[in-house]
Amino acid sequence: MEIAIIGGTGVYDPAMLTEKREIKVETPYGMITPVVGVFAGRKVAFLPRHGADHSVPPHRINYLANIWGLRRLGVERVLASAAVGSLNPQMLPGEVVIIDQFIDFTKNRPHTFFEGGEFGVVHTDFTEPYCPELRKVLLAAAEELGIKAHDGGVYVCTEGPRFETPAEIRMFAQLGGDLVGMTNLPEVVLAREAGLCYATMAIVTNFAAGIASGPLSHQEVVEIMAENSQRLQKLLNRALAIMPKERSCPCQKVAPPAEKIFEE
Ligand code: HPA
Repeated sequence: MEIAIIGGTGVYDPAMLTEKREIKVETPYGMITPVVGVFAGRKVAFLPRHGADHSVPPHRINYLANIWGLRRLGVERVLASAAVGSLNPQMLPGEVVIIDQFIDFTKNRPHTFFEGGEFGVVHTDFTEPYCPELRKVLLAAAEELGIKAHDGGVYVCTEGPRFETPAEIRMFAQLGGDLVGMTNLPEVVLAREAGLCYATMAIVTNFAAGIASGPLSHQEVVEIMAENSQRLQKLLNRALAIMPKERSCPCQKVAPPAEKIFEE
């Protein structure tokens, strides 16, 4: 496999793939069962982050197994989708944001492959957390399709599964956050640690708590994602089709040497 798509809320169906089959990949963290297939001559693995039936909440997702397993399959690049709330009046429900920074407010998730011991102490660079080449591909695909996509945005990741309080949202806005979600961390970090390029297309499903006119609901998020699923599918398809074959981004240079961790 060369490329993986990690589907967030509302993105469960690898419709574009041909020669589809579900496979099992054993990892030291448990098994994953991606659907693999072919699209635009590329071998693609598809993994719905919350499970095919959306049964896994954000704080229980086995991010370590997902990323380890994708690397095991030979994947070099990951495109992820994520439903987000917006704190930024310029980023409206229904719009796409190709995020470029994150702020991590998760509290209690396994969040690294590097736990010391025989692998040593490893500190990974996150000056440019998202692959600049993949971000460009997503932006170019959006432009070709006439889909409005913001170039850059700061994603604040909360622990969930509850939504935020208006006071938290005011704090995140003061800290420079644009969007809030529950799943981009530690996924983006583990991808970098594993030497994988990673980019996220965030879809604004709602204004965040206290900015929205009433209470938030998961149902509302699911509905907005369903309304946008065809656009997202088109965006993904186009991105896969125009993605250069070889990587020419700095991601691998800043990724730590990690071969040993990924040996079985
Ligand atoms: N908060 C956190 N996660 C979310 C939201 C939100 O408002 N909308 C979609 N995912």
